[in-house]
Amino acid sequence: MRILSGIQPSGTIHIGNYFGMIKKMIEAQNDGELFAFIASYHALTSVKDKEFLEKNIFEAAVNFLALGMDPEKSTFWVQSDVKEVLELYWLLSNHTSMGLLERAHSYKDKTAKGIQANHGLFSYPVLMAADILLYDSNIVPVGKDQIQHVEMTRDIATSFNNTYGEILVMPESKVDEEVATVPGTDGAKMSKSYGNTIDMFGTKKGIKKQVMGIVTDSKELDEVKDHTTCNVYKLCELFMNNDELKDLQQRYATPGEGYGHFKLTLLDKINEHFEPYVQRRQHLLDNPKEVKEILDFGASKARKIASAKMDVIRNAVGL
Ligand code: ADP
Ligand code: TRP
Repeated sequence: MRILSGIQPSGTIHIGNYFGMIKKMIEAQNDGELFAFIASYHALTSVKDKEFLEKNIFEAAVNFLALGMDPEKSTFWVQSDVKEVLELYWLLSNHTSMGLLERAHSYKDKTAKGIQANHGLFSYPVLMAADILLYDSNIVPVGKDQIQHVEMTRDIATSFNNTYGEILVMPESKVDEEVATVPGTDGAKMSKSYGNTIDMFGTKKGIKKQVMGIVTDSKELDEVKDHTTCNVYKLCELFMNNDELKDLQQRYATPGEGYGHFKLTLLDKINEHFEPYVQRRQHLLDNPKEVKEILDFGASKARKIASAKMDVIRNAVGL
């Protein structure tokens, strides 16, 4: 079973990204054959700054490698290092109706927010279909916002296969209903656009500032506190086992400690959790050549599959 996932190269990652997506993807390496790429072409729809794009692609690679992406076991590459995807994108464009693209929620949402409506943004789902179909992907793990794109991929593949025969493998999306939304420091969904994040690889001082800034009620030291409604406790749930949580509940129920104490407990847990990755990440940041070699190796593995598939597809269409 082949699992394929595209990762948007956003630079700074927070613990919402980690528990909502990255951790699951790393674990997916044990569920099947994982193909994961950094969606550098897709990023061009929103990033028009050369240095910023380069930095984000590099940092996304470093973060995934540091957190356990295994380039031997899985195939991990940068989308734009395998150009075959653009050829397939054009061939699939001829099997994509205007109506299908016009119904895309993400396009409608983005243009409603004032993002310039250009052809790249409009045809984004066709490139995504090419990503998926080029590698004969069976399963595409996605967030709810991306389900429609996988449905569109199936429509495009159906049209293609109806014309040329069973050439393209029909993919399925896999939505993890269990993924809880990680709350931010203000209790709303943690998101870099809300400025309520706790960064994974920030400085010790920066992370402490974010944790100490978590919003709580104003109960005093000598009052009993309610853990069930507390943002600090909700974040602790991500890092603690049941015994540790029971212990913490007891501390909430016993007067004498304040939210500052609970925040320091959370801070220790966060530091302890990510400590093993910090060193590996720093090593990769300091050795960009090594990162490039890993990505080149991934691209060569991906290209082998892509180029064989394109031979079949070109032949089928008469090119
Ligand atoms: P942001 O909202 O900070 O811009 P992105 O939209 O770039 O984050 O999200 C990247 C990935 O991380 C997506 O797969 C998304 O589902 C996941 N993710 C982001 N924020 C959270 C959160 N608060 N809880 C769970 N998952 C999240
Ligand atoms: N559109 C996806 C996102 O915004 C990224 C992506 C590009 C992708 N191509 C893909 C995801 C192919 C899965 C499969 O998150």
